[in-house]
Amino acid sequence: MMQQKILGKTDLHTTVLGLGGGGFSRLGTGQNKGDANAQQVVRAALDAGVNHIDSAEAYGTEEAIGNALRDGERSRLILSTKLSYQSVGRLKTPAEVRASMEGSLRRLQTDYVDIYHVHGVKAGDYTLIVEHILPILQRMREEGKLRFIGITESFSTDTDHQTLRLAIQDDYWDVVMAGFNLLNLSARDMLFQTTLAKGIGMQCIFAVRQALVSLDRLQGYLQRQVDGQGVDRRVLQAIPLLRELLDSGQCDSLTEVAYRFCAHEPGAGCVLSGTGSVEHLRQNIADIQKPPLPDDFLKRYEPLFAGITALSGQ
Ligand SMILES: NC(=O)c1ccc[n+]([C@@H]2O[C@H](COP(=O)([O-])OP(=O)(O)OC[C@H]3O[C@@H](n4cnc5c(N)ncnc54)[C@H](OP(=O)(O)O)[C@@H]3O)[C@@H](O)[C@H]2O)c1
Repeated sequence: MMQQKILGKTDLHTTVLGLGGGGFSRLGTGQNKGDANAQQVVRAALDAGVNHIDSAEAYGTEEAIGNALRDGERSRLILSTKLSYQSVGRLKTPAEVRASMEGSLRRLQTDYVDIYHVHGVKAGDYTLIVEHILPILQRMREEGKLRFIGITESFSTDTDHQTLRLAIQDDYWDVVMAGFNLLNLSARDMLFQTTLAKGIGMQCIFAVRQALVSLDRLQGYLQRQVDGQGVDRRVLQAIPLLRELLDSGQCDSLTEVAYRFCAHEPGAGCVLSGTGSVEHLRQNIADIQKPPLPDDFLKRYEPLFAGITALSGQ
């Protein structure tokens, strides 16, 4: 059986890896691999014992997820999806929020979701969300349409967690979704201490983003961040350190390093893995259950990124 974690104070026992229905890959639909392939990825995850799938009304993958589920399977799963809170540049009305939720339920072929998030909230919109959107979600929770209420950050632009730093001070959110990876450890101090102390569940995103799929890509990405964005040059020392780890045979790929790094971070909760490839998914499921990365590597690696909050790996 796959290793499990509990999401904060919820009673949700999630597998350590959750299948991400969004990100760059959107189950492969982002690369035009089609819905049949997306359903195969979902099936492969479920058949391998993954019990947690994340989507959003904005991703266009809810339907493929709903179609992939077999009779009787729903009750064993944690389904998480998200509300796009704006419509034509303004906040959605209560009726529009309800219509969004009903649409997600219909596409997912279920009558409730386990976690319903407000998706990619900008820090400047946070108060509006609390005043105008949260009460509708609370009502829908009373009606049994959702079990837990969540909020997610837009990590590619909010790399220092401005939205979630506000959110975790409040007691409204059962689960939050934050970026944490080999390139940005800032959630450890800025979020995880509080989410762990308060029992707020965490779904970890960006564990492997575009820059983390290969060492060559990572090298190019870091060089651009140093040259163009003024990021401290010391981050470039990550490349020889990672190469040394891979050459030592203790890890087989950069994606393995990246997933193992997140999986053993106490506050990172469930690590979402985005892919449109059954083969990658199976590899990621195996990798994420491997032991923590070697201590001597972490001791040399982590200081390179200490205090750096500008990187997402996007
Ligand atoms: N604000 C938000 O709410 C928010 C934002 C971002 C993400 N999310 C959630 O978090 C999930 C995960 O996000 P993510 O950033 O990890 O997804 P992503 O953007 O899809 O990134 C994963 C990338 O890594 C590649 N990959 C995965 N496994 C690999 C392997 N073993 N070898 C080589 N390449 C591999 C994938 O390509 P292949 O398809 O070729 O495998 C894909 O390009 C999303 O699906 C979504 O559910 C939420």
